[in-house]
Amino acid sequence: MDYQAVLDEVATAVRPLIGQGRVANYIPALAAVDPGRFGMALATVDGQLFGVGDWRVPFSIQSISKVFTLALTLARDGDAVWRRVGKEPSGNPFNSLVQLEYEQGIPRNPFINAGALVITDRLLRLTGDARGVLREFLRVESGNPALDFDPVVAASEATHGHRNAALAHFMASYGNIENPVADVLDHYFWQCSLSASCADLARACGFLARHGQRAGGERLLTRSQAKQVNAVMLTCGTYDAAGDFAYRVGLPGKSGVGGGIIAVIPNLCGLCVWSPGLDARGNSVAGVEALDRFTTLTGLSVF
Ligand code: DON
Repeated sequence: MDYQAVLDEVATAVRPLIGQGRVANYIPALAAVDPGRFGMALATVDGQLFGVGDWRVPFSIQSISKVFTLALTLARDGDAVWRRVGKEPSGNPFNSLVQLEYEQGIPRNPFINAGALVITDRLLRLTGDARGVLREFLRVESGNPALDFDPVVAASEATHGHRNAALAHFMASYGNIENPVADVLDHYFWQCSLSASCADLARACGFLARHGQRAGGERLLTRSQAKQVNAVMLTCGTYDAAGDFAYRVGLPGKSGVGGGIIAVIPNLCGLCVWSPGLDARGNSVAGVEALDRFTTLTGLSVF
């Protein structure tokens, strides 16, 4: 298949949607991003890389980080993780508090904020440096040693992080946070602040297309664990829009409020698309459409 031609066709088709939606505005550093940006990259499991538009421009990865912290934690902790976080779609916004009280401080899944805080807590306990382990993993898998945190975004996340602080303290009251809440929040905010391009992230999620095997050939996850992460991405990766995303795109995917979305085609490639305009549920408008077009044009999906 001529992937470059497909990406070019997708980029042309979504052009009218670029700039639609709203750029995340809860912190100034995200509100300042140009809504006219669009990029998309495809990295095959055997190392080929294709891209279109702003595919080499770094953006704030935000909640896309949650896929990688889950994988890094599963790799070290195995099934023990699932005692502290569920694997069911939440049907609620990513930063919702209400469900947590009904469910005694056990978050529905690792991709809503509460679940990601639990994962960060566990990774911090297991490694002593959750954010550092994440940055190193992304640098190695992307092949980009310059991939780094954005300290301005990290600081703003902390300043405006009252809801995340509430979630973390609430879970701590149920005994579901092991480290000091301030440390967990700090690592979580820095993880969200990482900047990476579509090219970086398409490559970095390749281990999920290779059934758990890293770019250098060594194994991060068992085949079964890689299946688990992909399955949770499919059912929970785009929050209360996961049903619509699965219906339209038919791939495991994970979005972030920076406007990025990663998606995985097992045995074939990692994909990443970025356009900052978000729909009401926090997913990139042009990004979801681009992935929808991609799977429709190529017939490539998990179904
Ligand atoms: O926790 C937050 O509010 C952000 N730093 C990350 C949120 C995010 O990307 C959720 N995703 N769509």
